[in-house]
Amino acid sequence: MNAPLLTLNDGHPLPWIGFGTYPLRGSAGHVAVRAALDSGFRLLDAAANYRNEVEVGRAVREFLTETRIPRDEIFVQTKVPGGRHDYDDAIEACDDSLALLGLDRIDVVLLHAPDPATDAYRDAWRALVDLRARGVVRSLGVSNVTAQQLATIVADSGVVPAVGQVAMDPYSQQHPMRSEFARLGIVTQSWSPLGGATPALAEPAVAGAAAAHGVTPAQVVLRWHLQQRSVPLPMSTEFAQQREFLDVFRFALTDAEFAGISALGRDVP
Ligand SMILES: NC(=O)c1ccc[n+]([C@@H]2O[C@H](COP(=O)([O-])OP(=O)(O)OC[C@H]3O[C@@H](n4cnc5c(N)ncnc54)[C@H](OP(=O)(O)O)[C@@H]3O)[C@@H](O)[C@H]2O)c1
Repeated sequence: MNAPLLTLNDGHPLPWIGFGTYPLRGSAGHVAVRAALDSGFRLLDAAANYRNEVEVGRAVREFLTETRIPRDEIFVQTKVPGGRHDYDDAIEACDDSLALLGLDRIDVVLLHAPDPATDAYRDAWRALVDLRARGVVRSLGVSNVTAQQLATIVADSGVVPAVGQVAMDPYSQQHPMRSEFARLGIVTQSWSPLGGATPALAEPAVAGAAAAHGVTPAQVVLRWHLQQRSVPLPMSTEFAQQREFLDVFRFALTDAEFAGISALGRDVP
C-alpha cells in the first residue's frame, strides 16, 4: 500500500507519510530501511547526523534495481547538520550526502537544528538555495528552527522552505510553529510522531478510537497527524509494524475522537 501524494509549495510531490530512519544503522539498519520500502514507504527521512546515509542509499538503490520502480517515485530526504552551517560547509555537506547515498539527487534537504548562538545558518540556507538552482537538491526544508530563524532566511533569500520538521505527538503539539508553517504554505512533518512510543498510545482517547475503528493505537495517532495536515515520520524495525503504519488512509477519526486526542496536549496555548 502506497501513501497518497501532496503537493509542496514548490510544485513537487511528497508522500503523506514517511519512514523515520533514526537510529537505524549497519546491516540491521539496511534491512529495516529495505523492509520499509518493501512495505510501501516511498519517503525516507535520513540525516547526516544519523550516520546512516550509506545504509539508506544502499537500500534505495537495491530496491530501484530489483523492482524497476522509477526513481521519481522514491523521495529521499536528508539534513545538513548545525555543525556545517556556513556556505562552503553546507555545499560540501550536501556533496558528502550525495556520495554516501550514492544518488545523483537529494529530493528534500533540510537545514537541521541551527545553532541559536550564531548567524551561520543564514549562509547555509543560501547554499541550499544555490544547490537547488543547480538541480542536485529538489526541495528545501528546515528542521527544529525558531520562528525568528525561519523569518530571517525567508527575508534573506525570498525562498520559503517547502517542508518544516518539528517534534510532534499528542502531548506536544507545536501550535505556534505549525501556525507559522501554515501561514507560509510550509508542509509540517512530525518527527517522533508516536512520541517515541510514550504512554500517549495507552491514553483512553487513543485506545477508545482504536477500538472503535478496529485499528491499533499507533494507527490512530498517525491518523490524528494526517487529519491536521501534518506528515508523520514513524519508525519501526518491524516489517508488520511498518505495514500497519501505512494502513492509515482507509479510516477517519470523528471530530469528537480528534478533539479527544488533541486535548491530551500539554503545550496547548
Ligand atoms: N529532525 C530531528 O531533529 C529528528 C529528531 C528525532 C527523530 N527524527 C526523525 O523522526 C523519526 C521518528 O522518530 P522516533 O523513532 O523517535 O519516533 P516514533 O516513530 O514516534 O517512535 C519510534 C519508536 O516507537 C516504537 N514503536 C513503533 N510502533 C510502536 C507501537 N505500535 N507500539 C509501541 N511502540 C512502537 C519503535 O520500536 P520498534 O522499532 O521496536 O517498533 C521505536 O522505538 C526518526 O526515525 C527520524 O527520522 C528527527
